[in-house]
Amino acid sequence: MSRAQISPEPTLAVGVGLPWDVAVDDAVDLLARAREVHGDTFLVESGRDRVLFTFSPTGVESFYALPEEVASKGVADYLMLRRKLPDALFEGRRTLPGSLFRKEDVASYLGNLEEALAATVAELGDSGSVDVFALTRRLGHRMGLASWAGPGAASGAAFDDLVVAFDALDGADAFVHPDAMAAVAASGKAAERAALDRVVEIVGVSIGSVELQAHPLFARIAAEWADEPPEVARLGVAYDVALIHVASLSNLGAALAWMLIDLIEHPAAAGAVAAGDRELAARCALESTRLAQRSIMARTVLAPVTFDTGDATYDVSPGATIATLLPLTNRSPELGHDTWSPDRWTRHRFTDTAGLASPQLVTAFGHGKHSCPAQPFSIAAMTMAATHLLTQFELEPRWSSYPRPVPAQIGGVARAAEPCLMTYRRRDPR
Ligand code: HEM
Repeated sequence: MSRAQISPEPTLAVGVGLPWDVAVDDAVDLLARAREVHGDTFLVESGRDRVLFTFSPTGVESFYALPEEVASKGVADYLMLRRKLPDALFEGRRTLPGSLFRKEDVASYLGNLEEALAATVAELGDSGSVDVFALTRRLGHRMGLASWAGPGAASGAAFDDLVVAFDALDGADAFVHPDAMAAVAASGKAAERAALDRVVEIVGVSIGSVELQAHPLFARIAAEWADEPPEVARLGVAYDVALIHVASLSNLGAALAWMLIDLIEHPAAAGAVAAGDRELAARCALESTRLAQRSIMARTVLAPVTFDTGDATYDVSPGATIATLLPLTNRSPELGHDTWSPDRWTRHRFTDTAGLASPQLVTAFGHGKHSCPAQPFSIAAMTMAATHLLTQFELEPRWSSYPRPVPAQIGGVARAAEPCLMTYRRRDPR
């Protein structure tokens, strides 16, 4: 295959590779250092990829304005996720994560979250210690599986088995642990394929269940396959559910974990949230998500495109990637954006913009056409969960310094590099 052309040729960041291809100490740091040396726009050649990184105000605005048919987010996401997920999961899907946010859907997810929170509180008991990320991840599994995996998926042995399967099938590993993807490829994705088979076994039994009216989203997914023979439908439905589950919730769980950590670190704000200040809780959710963003935002060029970065205009040919990296623009120390302050937000808008050359340089949920369709739901869910846990429990940190992200992670919301324990004590023991 010939190399994708970029003309004029941008400065090449010599010796810089991406963590799928080379061992890096810290993926974000490496690109931050490349930016210090080469300026706001430079080229990274890594493996077979040629990636035009841009961080200039005009470059980032041009990035968010790229039309999908010319420079595709869908293809870039697929190329990333297929490093981890079995190919079969991408073939012939009939219900996609982007179609989950009709009005009645959100109400049903939040109802399931309420039940998941009650189950979580029961599981925790009166006191103990727990890893914040493990807690929020399990909560996300429970809410998601209740929402779209059919009757019985969110309780008992079926739930525990699905959690094990989905932990092995975690698409987020593709960007949280990019350094592990060579081993996944070498294994032929054996663990992931076995986990997917297990999901089919468990979810498949619910097709045709008499309880479907209580599971509207699962019923909708199943209806898309109603014209197929039972074996085809069983696989189709279970794969739709699996892709929805792995593509949607892991960032939400991680963002909620950072929100809890930041609130534990800021007792006055935690007190106000526990006392019912939902508006503040929503701003805390946005602020923690902004600071925890480690997303590489990428578009795979499909048709020749002219890309303006302000100081130059590049002709980019198909096969190249255009990208930016949120942590490099989201948390500028020179603007004071590297600390936690929910007052930077006015409702859902980042308004601490003094000195910021473009409002699009900062984000929690993205800008433009591809911005997150789940933002209102995610903020409502984080608000509900943090409020519930802070009302029920006194939470104390057991970390000695503020948790640090997994260094190799390049994408999504940061996960913690080390266990992140907190102790909890029920305010009103039963
Ligand atoms: C705190 C949690 C979440 C964060 C921080 C987040 C963040 C983002 C960001 C930054 C984008 C834009 C990416 C880009 O332009 O390349 C995005 C897109 C998207 N998100 Fe989320 N998201 C979250 C939760 C969810 C959930 C729960 C779902 C459930 C399905 C979801 C589904 C999507 C979809 C389908 C898109 C693509 C939209 C499109 O291409 O038009 N997200 N998200």
